Amino acid sequence: MRLLDIITKKRDGKTLDASEINALVQAYTMNNLPDYQMAAWLMAVYLNGMIYQETAALTLAMAESGDKMDLSSVPGIKVDKHSTGGVADTTTLVLGPLVAAAGIPVAKMSGRGLGFTGGTIDKLEAIPGFKIALTQANFIENIKKHGMALTSQNSMIAPADGKMYALRDVTATVESIPLIASSIMSKKIAAGADKILLDVKVGSGAFMKDIKSAVELASTMVEIGRLVERDTIAILTNMDEPLGDAIGNSLEVQEAIDVLKGGGPGNLRHVCLVLGSYMLKLAGHTESLDEGYQILRDLLENGSALEKFKEFIIAQGGNPAIVENNNLLPQAKYKITVKSNIDGYIEKIDAAKIGYVAMILGAGREFKEQEIDLAAGMVLKCRVGDKIECGQQLAIIHANDQDKISVAIKIIQEALTFCSQQIQPTKLILGIVDKNGYKSF
Ligand code: URA
Ligand code: CA
Repeated sequence: MRLLDIITKKRDGKTLDASEINALVQAYTMNNLPDYQMAAWLMAVYLNGMIYQETAALTLAMAESGDKMDLSSVPGIKVDKHSTGGVADTTTLVLGPLVAAAGIPVAKMSGRGLGFTGGTIDKLEAIPGFKIALTQANFIENIKKHGMALTSQNSMIAPADGKMYALRDVTATVESIPLIASSIMSKKIAAGADKILLDVKVGSGAFMKDIKSAVELASTMVEIGRLVERDTIAILTNMDEPLGDAIGNSLEVQEAIDVLKGGGPGNLRHVCLVLGSYMLKLAGHTESLDEGYQILRDLLENGSALEKFKEFIIAQGGNPAIVENNNLLPQAKYKITVKSNIDGYIEKIDAAKIGYVAMILGAGREFKEQEIDLAAGMVLKCRVGDKIECGQQLAIIHANDQDKISVAIKIIQEALTFCSQQIQPTKLILGIVDKNGYKSF
Protein backbone atom coordinates (compact mmCIF):
# COMPACT_ATOMS: atom_id res chain seq x y z
CA MET A 1 0.00 0.00 0.00
CA ARG A 2 1.24 3.48 -0.82
CA LEU A 3 1.63 5.91 2.07
CA LEU A 4 -0.91 8.19 0.37
CA ASP A 5 -3.48 5.36 0.53
CA ILE A 6 -2.95 5.13 4.30
CA ILE A 7 -3.72 8.84 4.64
CA THR A 8 -6.81 8.43 2.44
CA LYS A 9 -8.01 5.47 4.48
CA LYS A 10 -7.82 7.44 7.74
CA ARG A 11 -9.44 10.46 6.10
CA ASP A 12 -12.39 8.24 5.16
CA GLY A 13 -12.77 7.08 8.78
CA LYS A 14 -11.57 3.53 8.25
CA THR A 15 -9.47 1.51 10.70
CA LEU A 16 -5.77 1.09 9.98
CA ASP A 17 -3.90 -2.10 10.79
CA ALA A 18 -0.58 -2.23 12.62
CA SER A 19 1.49 -2.73 9.45
CA GLU A 20 0.02 0.41 7.89
CA ILE A 21 0.67 2.48 11.02
CA ASN A 22 4.21 1.08 11.25
CA ALA A 23 4.94 1.94 7.63
CA LEU A 24 3.83 5.53 8.16
CA VAL A 25 5.78 6.06 11.41
CA GLN A 26 8.92 4.41 10.04
CA ALA A 27 8.83 6.47 6.87
CA TYR A 28 8.37 9.67 8.85
CA THR A 29 11.18 8.86 11.30
CA MET A 30 13.56 8.14 8.39
CA ASN A 31 12.58 11.40 6.65
CA ASN A 32 10.93 9.43 3.85
CA LEU A 33 7.54 11.04 4.46
CA PRO A 34 7.31 14.84 4.24
CA ASP A 35 5.81 16.93 7.04
CA TYR A 36 2.79 17.92 4.94
CA GLN A 37 1.72 14.31 4.48
CA MET A 38 2.21 13.46 8.15
CA ALA A 39 0.30 16.64 9.06
CA ALA A 40 -2.59 15.55 6.84
CA TRP A 41 -2.65 12.14 8.52
CA LEU A 42 -2.50 13.69 12.01
CA MET A 43 -5.44 15.93 11.16
CA ALA A 44 -7.38 12.91 9.87
CA VAL A 45 -6.69 11.17 13.20
CA TYR A 46 -7.67 14.30 15.10
CA LEU A 47 -11.01 14.48 13.26
CA ASN A 48 -11.86 10.76 12.98
CA GLY A 49 -10.19 9.31 16.09
CA MET A 50 -8.69 5.85 16.40
CA ILE A 51 -9.76 2.63 18.11
CA TYR A 52 -7.63 1.20 20.97
CA GLN A 53 -5.86 -1.28 18.66
CA GLU A 54 -4.78 1.53 16.33
CA THR A 55 -3.62 3.69 19.24
CA ALA A 56 -1.66 0.74 20.68
CA ALA A 57 -0.06 0.09 17.29
CA LEU A 58 0.91 3.77 16.98
CA THR A 59 2.35 3.70 20.51
CA LEU A 60 4.49 0.65 19.77
CA ALA A 61 5.65 2.02 16.42
CA MET A 62 6.82 5.25 18.14
CA ALA A 63 8.38 3.35 21.10
CA GLU A 64 10.32 1.19 18.60
CA SER A 65 11.49 4.20 16.54
CA GLY A 66 14.67 4.71 18.60
CA ASP A 67 16.58 3.41 21.62
CA LYS A 68 14.98 1.71 24.59
CA MET A 69 16.30 2.05 28.10
CA ASP A 70 17.24 -1.34 29.56
CA LEU A 71 16.68 -1.22 33.32
CA SER A 72 16.82 -4.99 33.82
CA SER A 73 20.11 -4.76 35.75
CA VAL A 74 18.46 -2.56 38.41
CA PRO A 75 16.98 -4.82 41.09
CA GLY A 76 13.33 -4.35 42.09
CA ILE A 77 10.14 -3.29 40.36
CA LYS A 78 10.68 0.06 38.61
CA VAL A 79 7.65 2.35 38.70
CA ASP A 80 7.49 5.41 36.48
CA LYS A 81 5.22 8.32 37.30
CA HIS A 82 4.06 10.74 34.65
CA SER A 83 1.89 13.82 34.79
CA THR A 84 -0.07 14.88 31.71
CA GLY A 85 0.99 18.46 32.49
CA GLY A 86 -0.31 21.23 34.69
CA VAL A 87 0.46 24.45 36.53
CA ALA A 88 2.46 24.58 39.80
CA ASP A 89 2.78 20.81 39.49
CA THR A 90 6.00 20.14 41.35
CA THR A 91 5.14 16.53 42.19
CA THR A 92 8.10 14.90 40.40
CA LEU A 93 10.67 16.90 42.38
CA VAL A 94 9.03 15.77 45.61
CA LEU A 95 8.05 12.22 44.64
CA GLY A 96 11.44 11.22 43.23
CA PRO A 97 13.42 11.56 46.47
CA LEU A 98 10.40 10.63 48.61
CA VAL A 99 9.75 7.30 46.91
CA ALA A 100 13.51 6.61 46.64
CA ALA A 101 13.79 7.23 50.40
CA ALA A 102 11.20 4.45 50.85
CA GLY A 103 13.56 2.07 49.03
CA ILE A 104 11.83 2.00 45.63
CA PRO A 105 14.16 2.58 42.66
CA VAL A 106 13.30 5.79 40.80
CA ALA A 107 14.35 5.92 37.14
CA LYS A 108 12.85 9.03 35.70
CA MET A 109 13.11 10.60 32.30
CA SER A 110 11.57 14.05 32.10
CA GLY A 111 10.92 16.73 29.56
CA ARG A 112 10.92 20.50 29.33
CA GLY A 113 7.90 22.71 29.69
CA LEU A 114 5.90 23.94 26.74
CA GLY A 115 3.23 26.63 26.75
CA PHE A 116 1.79 27.20 30.20
CA THR A 117 2.82 23.78 31.59
CA GLY A 118 6.14 23.38 33.37
CA GLY A 119 8.73 20.66 32.88
CA THR A 120 10.94 19.00 35.48
CA ILE A 121 14.13 19.36 33.43
CA ASP A 122 13.82 23.17 33.33
CA LYS A 123 13.20 23.25 37.08
CA LEU A 124 16.30 21.16 37.81
CA GLU A 125 18.40 23.50 35.69
CA ALA A 126 17.74 26.16 38.33
CA ILE A 127 20.05 24.19 40.66
CA PRO A 128 23.63 25.46 40.15
CA GLY A 129 25.83 22.80 38.58
CA PHE A 130 23.07 20.23 38.14
CA LYS A 131 23.61 17.93 35.13
CA ILE A 132 20.32 17.11 33.44
CA ALA A 133 21.67 14.75 30.78
CA LEU A 134 23.15 11.44 31.87
CA THR A 135 24.45 8.65 29.68
CA GLN A 136 22.49 5.42 29.99
CA ALA A 137 25.44 3.91 31.91
CA ASN A 138 25.58 6.82 34.41
CA PHE A 139 21.82 6.81 34.74
CA ILE A 140 21.75 3.14 35.70
CA GLU A 141 24.82 3.44 37.95
CA ASN A 142 23.19 6.32 39.85
CA ILE A 143 19.95 4.41 40.35
CA LYS A 144 21.89 1.46 41.74
CA LYS A 145 24.03 3.64 44.01
CA HIS A 146 21.55 6.29 45.14
CA GLY A 147 18.17 4.68 44.47
CA MET A 148 17.33 7.49 42.08
CA ALA A 149 18.35 9.21 38.85
CA LEU A 150 16.64 11.67 36.57
CA THR A 151 17.64 12.48 33.04
CA SER A 152 16.34 14.58 30.19
CA GLN A 153 14.40 12.99 27.40
CA ASN A 154 17.11 12.36 24.84
CA SER A 155 16.48 12.59 21.15
CA MET A 156 16.98 8.85 20.69
CA ILE A 157 14.07 7.90 22.94
CA ALA A 158 10.94 7.64 20.79
CA PRO A 159 12.30 10.05 18.13
CA ALA A 160 9.11 9.58 16.08
CA ASP A 161 7.17 11.18 18.93
CA GLY A 162 9.64 14.05 19.13
CA LYS A 163 9.11 14.84 15.45
CA MET A 164 5.37 14.28 15.51
CA TYR A 165 4.84 16.33 18.68
CA ALA A 166 6.65 19.31 17.14
CA LEU A 167 4.50 18.97 14.01
CA ARG A 168 1.27 18.65 16.05
CA ASP A 169 2.21 21.76 17.97
CA VAL A 170 2.08 23.86 14.78
CA THR A 171 -0.83 22.09 13.02
CA ALA A 172 -3.49 22.33 15.77
CA THR A 173 -3.45 18.57 16.36
CA VAL A 174 -2.19 18.37 19.96
CA GLU A 175 -5.58 17.98 21.66
CA SER A 176 -6.41 14.53 20.36
CA ILE A 177 -6.87 11.71 22.87
CA PRO A 178 -5.29 8.90 20.78
CA LEU A 179 -2.37 11.18 19.84
CA ILE A 180 -1.73 12.33 23.43
CA ALA A 181 -2.11 8.79 24.79
CA SER A 182 0.30 7.27 22.24
CA SER A 183 2.78 10.14 22.66
CA ILE A 184 2.98 9.69 26.43
CA MET A 185 2.88 5.90 26.48
CA SER A 186 5.51 5.49 23.72
CA LYS A 187 8.01 7.43 25.85
CA LYS A 188 7.08 5.51 29.00
CA ILE A 189 7.53 2.18 27.24
CA ALA A 190 10.88 3.21 25.74
CA ALA A 191 12.02 4.51 29.16
CA GLY A 192 11.90 0.94 30.44
CA ALA A 193 9.91 0.98 33.72
CA ASP A 194 7.92 -2.13 34.71
CA LYS A 195 4.86 -0.25 35.91
CA ILE A 196 3.42 3.15 35.14
CA LEU A 197 1.50 5.57 37.34
CA LEU A 198 -0.21 8.35 35.41
CA ASP A 199 -1.39 11.59 36.96
CA VAL A 200 -4.06 12.77 34.54
CA LYS A 201 -4.80 16.41 35.21
CA VAL A 202 -8.36 17.67 34.76
CA GLY A 203 -9.42 21.30 34.55
CA SER A 204 -8.70 24.72 33.09
CA GLY A 205 -4.93 24.33 33.48
CA ALA A 206 -4.78 20.92 31.79
CA PHE A 207 -5.15 19.42 28.30
CA MET A 208 -8.31 17.66 29.48
CA LYS A 209 -10.83 20.27 30.60
CA ASP A 210 -13.55 17.92 31.87
CA ILE A 211 -13.88 14.56 33.61
CA LYS A 212 -15.36 12.79 30.60
CA SER A 213 -12.40 13.49 28.32
CA ALA A 214 -9.91 12.84 31.15
CA VAL A 215 -11.47 9.42 31.76
CA GLU A 216 -11.26 8.69 28.05
CA LEU A 217 -7.57 9.67 27.92
CA ALA A 218 -6.81 7.70 31.10
CA SER A 219 -8.70 4.62 29.86
CA THR A 220 -6.85 4.72 26.54
CA MET A 221 -3.46 4.80 28.28
CA VAL A 222 -4.41 2.08 30.80
CA GLU A 223 -5.62 -0.10 27.91
CA ILE A 224 -2.36 0.47 25.99
CA GLY A 225 -0.46 -0.50 29.16
CA ARG A 226 -2.49 -3.72 29.35
CA LEU A 227 -1.88 -4.53 25.68
CA VAL A 228 1.89 -4.10 26.07
CA GLU A 229 2.00 -5.80 29.50
CA ARG A 230 3.05 -2.77 31.53
CA ASP A 231 0.71 -2.46 34.51
CA THR A 232 -0.70 1.08 34.27
CA ILE A 233 -2.91 3.02 36.69
CA ALA A 234 -4.20 6.55 36.16
CA ILE A 235 -5.18 8.90 38.98
CA LEU A 236 -7.34 11.87 37.96
CA THR A 237 -6.38 15.04 39.83
CA ASN A 238 -7.79 18.53 39.82
CA MET A 239 -6.09 21.21 37.71
CA ASP A 240 -8.79 23.89 37.92
CA GLU A 241 -6.57 25.82 40.29
CA PRO A 242 -2.76 25.57 40.38
CA LEU A 243 -1.61 22.61 42.48
CA GLY A 244 1.07 24.36 44.50
CA ASP A 245 1.58 28.05 45.22
CA ALA A 246 4.79 28.57 43.22
CA ILE A 247 4.94 28.81 39.42
CA GLY A 248 8.37 29.25 37.87
CA ASN A 249 11.46 27.09 37.84
CA SER A 250 13.59 28.32 40.74
CA LEU A 251 10.43 29.05 42.76
CA GLU A 252 9.14 25.51 42.25
CA VAL A 253 12.45 24.00 43.39
CA GLN A 254 12.13 26.09 46.57
CA GLU A 255 8.58 24.87 47.04
CA ALA A 256 9.56 21.23 46.53
CA ILE A 257 12.21 21.69 49.24
CA ASP A 258 9.53 23.11 51.57
CA VAL A 259 7.43 19.97 51.04
CA LEU A 260 10.48 17.72 51.52
CA LYS A 261 11.09 19.53 54.82
CA GLY A 262 7.61 18.52 56.00
CA GLY A 263 5.87 21.81 55.13
CA GLY A 264 4.78 23.38 51.84
CA PRO A 265 1.28 23.87 50.40
CA GLY A 266 -1.21 21.26 51.65
CA ASN A 267 -2.65 20.40 48.22
CA LEU A 268 0.74 19.71 46.67
CA ARG A 269 1.82 17.66 49.68
CA HIS A 270 -1.41 15.63 49.65
CA VAL A 271 -1.26 14.84 45.91
CA CYS A 272 2.41 13.76 46.32
CA LEU A 273 1.51 11.46 49.21
CA VAL A 274 -1.45 9.94 47.34
CA LEU A 275 0.52 9.37 44.11
CA GLY A 276 3.45 8.04 46.15
CA SER A 277 1.25 5.57 48.00
CA TYR A 278 0.07 4.18 44.64
CA MET A 279 3.72 3.90 43.51
CA LEU A 280 4.62 1.94 46.65
CA LYS A 281 1.69 -0.40 46.10
CA LEU A 282 2.52 -0.88 42.40
CA ALA A 283 6.11 -1.68 43.39
CA GLY A 284 4.83 -4.41 45.72
CA HIS A 285 6.25 -2.55 48.73
CA THR A 286 2.96 -2.13 50.58
CA GLU A 287 -0.39 -3.94 50.79
CA SER A 288 -2.56 -0.91 51.30
CA LEU A 289 -2.58 2.72 50.23
CA ASP A 290 -2.98 3.91 53.84
CA GLU A 291 0.17 2.08 54.85
CA GLY A 292 2.10 3.75 52.02
CA TYR A 293 0.68 7.17 52.85
CA GLN A 294 1.91 6.85 56.45
CA ILE A 295 5.34 5.57 55.47
CA LEU A 296 5.79 8.50 53.07
CA ARG A 297 4.47 11.08 55.52
CA ASP A 298 7.02 9.86 58.07
CA LEU A 299 9.81 10.15 55.49
CA LEU A 300 8.84 13.79 54.89
CA GLU A 301 8.69 14.51 58.58
CA ASN A 302 11.85 12.74 59.73
CA GLY A 303 14.08 14.38 57.09
CA SER A 304 14.88 11.19 55.10
CA ALA A 305 13.26 12.44 51.89
CA LEU A 306 15.20 15.71 52.13
CA GLU A 307 18.47 13.81 52.71
CA LYS A 308 17.71 11.72 49.60
CA PHE A 309 17.12 14.90 47.60
CA LYS A 310 20.55 16.23 48.65
CA GLU A 311 22.19 12.92 47.77
CA PHE A 312 20.51 13.04 44.34
CA ILE A 313 21.66 16.64 43.73
CA ILE A 314 25.26 15.78 44.64
CA ALA A 315 25.18 12.65 42.45
CA GLN A 316 24.22 14.80 39.45
CA GLY A 317 26.80 17.53 40.09
CA GLY A 318 24.55 20.13 41.72
CA ASN A 319 25.11 22.25 44.81
CA PRO A 320 23.21 20.67 47.76
CA ALA A 321 23.56 23.86 49.83
CA ILE A 322 20.46 25.20 47.99
CA VAL A 323 18.44 23.07 50.38
CA GLU A 324 19.46 25.22 53.36
CA ASN A 325 19.99 28.48 51.52
CA ASN A 326 17.54 29.27 48.73
CA ASN A 327 19.44 32.47 47.89
CA LEU A 328 21.79 30.15 46.01
CA LEU A 329 19.00 29.53 43.47
CA PRO A 330 18.44 32.13 40.73
CA GLN A 331 16.64 35.15 42.24
CA ALA A 332 14.56 37.74 40.41
CA LYS A 333 15.46 41.42 40.57
CA TYR A 334 11.90 42.61 41.20
CA LYS A 335 9.45 41.15 43.71
CA ILE A 336 6.07 42.84 43.41
CA THR A 337 3.11 42.19 45.68
CA VAL A 338 -0.31 42.04 44.01
CA LYS A 339 -3.06 43.13 46.39
CA SER A 340 -6.81 42.71 46.34
CA ASN A 341 -8.92 45.76 45.69
CA ILE A 342 -12.12 44.11 46.99
CA ASP A 343 -13.41 42.02 49.90
CA GLY A 344 -14.75 38.55 49.23
CA TYR A 345 -14.10 34.85 48.94
CA ILE A 346 -11.95 33.33 46.21
CA GLU A 347 -14.30 31.35 43.96
CA LYS A 348 -11.89 30.38 41.17
CA ILE A 349 -8.20 30.64 40.26
CA ASP A 350 -7.85 30.04 36.53
CA ALA A 351 -4.79 27.77 36.33
CA ALA A 352 -4.27 28.34 32.60
CA LYS A 353 -4.16 32.12 33.08
CA ILE A 354 -1.77 31.79 36.03
CA GLY A 355 0.45 29.52 33.93
CA TYR A 356 0.28 32.07 31.15
CA VAL A 357 1.42 34.87 33.51
CA ALA A 358 4.45 32.82 34.52
CA MET A 359 5.18 32.16 30.86
CA ILE A 360 5.11 35.81 29.82
CA LEU A 361 7.31 36.71 32.81
CA GLY A 362 9.84 34.36 31.19
CA ALA A 363 9.35 31.14 33.20
CA GLY A 364 7.98 29.21 30.21
CA ARG A 365 8.21 28.98 26.45
CA GLU A 366 5.87 30.15 23.76
CA PHE A 367 7.86 28.19 21.21
CA LYS A 368 10.29 25.30 21.40
CA GLU A 369 13.95 26.08 22.20
CA GLN A 370 13.07 29.54 23.55
CA GLU A 371 15.42 30.65 26.37
CA ILE A 372 13.70 30.84 29.73
CA ASP A 373 14.32 32.94 32.83
CA LEU A 374 14.87 30.48 35.67
CA ALA A 375 14.17 33.06 38.39
CA ALA A 376 10.92 34.42 36.93
CA GLY A 377 7.42 33.45 37.97
CA MET A 378 5.00 34.06 40.77
CA VAL A 379 3.88 32.76 44.15
CA LEU A 380 0.17 32.63 44.94
CA LYS A 381 -0.83 33.87 48.36
CA CYS A 382 -4.44 32.70 48.18
CA ARG A 383 -6.39 29.51 47.46
CA VAL A 384 -9.95 28.77 46.36
CA GLY A 385 -12.25 29.24 49.36
CA ASP A 386 -10.06 31.81 51.16
CA LYS A 387 -11.65 34.91 52.66
CA ILE A 388 -9.85 37.98 51.34
CA GLU A 389 -9.97 41.54 52.57
CA CYS A 390 -9.34 44.61 50.47
CA GLY A 391 -5.61 45.33 50.53
CA GLN A 392 -4.64 41.74 51.36
CA GLN A 393 -1.88 40.18 49.25
CA LEU A 394 -2.95 37.78 46.49
CA ALA A 395 0.36 36.95 44.83
CA ILE A 396 3.99 37.95 44.56
CA ILE A 397 5.43 38.43 41.10
CA HIS A 398 9.10 37.56 40.56
CA ALA A 399 10.42 39.36 37.48
CA ASN A 400 13.67 40.42 35.87
CA ASP A 401 11.96 42.30 33.07
CA GLN A 402 10.26 45.41 34.44
CA ASP A 403 8.19 45.88 31.27
CA LYS A 404 6.26 42.66 31.90
CA ILE A 405 5.05 43.54 35.37
CA SER A 406 1.94 45.60 34.63
CA VAL A 407 0.50 43.06 32.20
CA ALA A 408 1.26 40.26 34.69
CA ILE A 409 -0.69 42.10 37.41
CA LYS A 410 -3.62 42.58 35.03
CA ILE A 411 -3.80 38.89 34.07
CA ILE A 412 -3.47 37.74 37.70
CA GLN A 413 -6.45 39.94 38.56
CA GLU A 414 -8.40 38.42 35.64
CA ALA A 415 -7.48 34.90 36.75
CA LEU A 416 -9.08 35.35 40.16
CA THR A 417 -12.85 35.24 40.55
CA PHE A 418 -14.41 36.46 43.78
CA CYS A 419 -17.80 35.69 45.29
CA SER A 420 -19.59 36.99 48.35
CA GLN A 421 -20.23 33.69 50.13
CA GLN A 422 -18.00 30.99 51.50
CA ILE A 423 -17.65 28.09 49.06
CA GLN A 424 -16.43 24.52 49.38
CA PRO A 425 -12.78 24.01 48.47
CA THR A 426 -12.42 22.01 45.23
CA LYS A 427 -11.97 18.26 45.37
CA LEU A 428 -8.36 17.32 44.70
CA ILE A 429 -8.28 13.61 43.86
CA LEU A 430 -11.15 12.97 41.46
CA GLY A 431 -10.94 9.29 40.60
CA ILE A 432 -8.95 6.37 39.29
CA VAL A 433 -8.81 4.35 36.10
CA ASP A 434 -7.25 0.90 36.37
CA LYS A 435 -7.87 -2.49 34.80
CA ASN A 436 -11.32 -2.52 36.46
CA GLY A 437 -12.34 0.71 34.73
CA TYR A 438 -13.16 4.13 36.12
CA LYS A 439 -14.06 4.78 39.74
CA SER A 440 -14.90 8.29 40.93
CA PHE A 441 -13.89 9.33 44.47
N1 URA B 1 2.50 15.25 26.77
C1 URA B 1 3.09 14.47 25.85
O1 URA B 1 4.14 13.90 26.11
N2 URA B 1 2.50 14.31 24.64
C2 URA B 1 1.35 14.89 24.32
O2 URA B 1 0.87 14.69 23.22
C3 URA B 1 0.72 15.71 25.27
C4 URA B 1 1.32 15.87 26.51
CA1 CA C 1 5.41 17.66 32.63
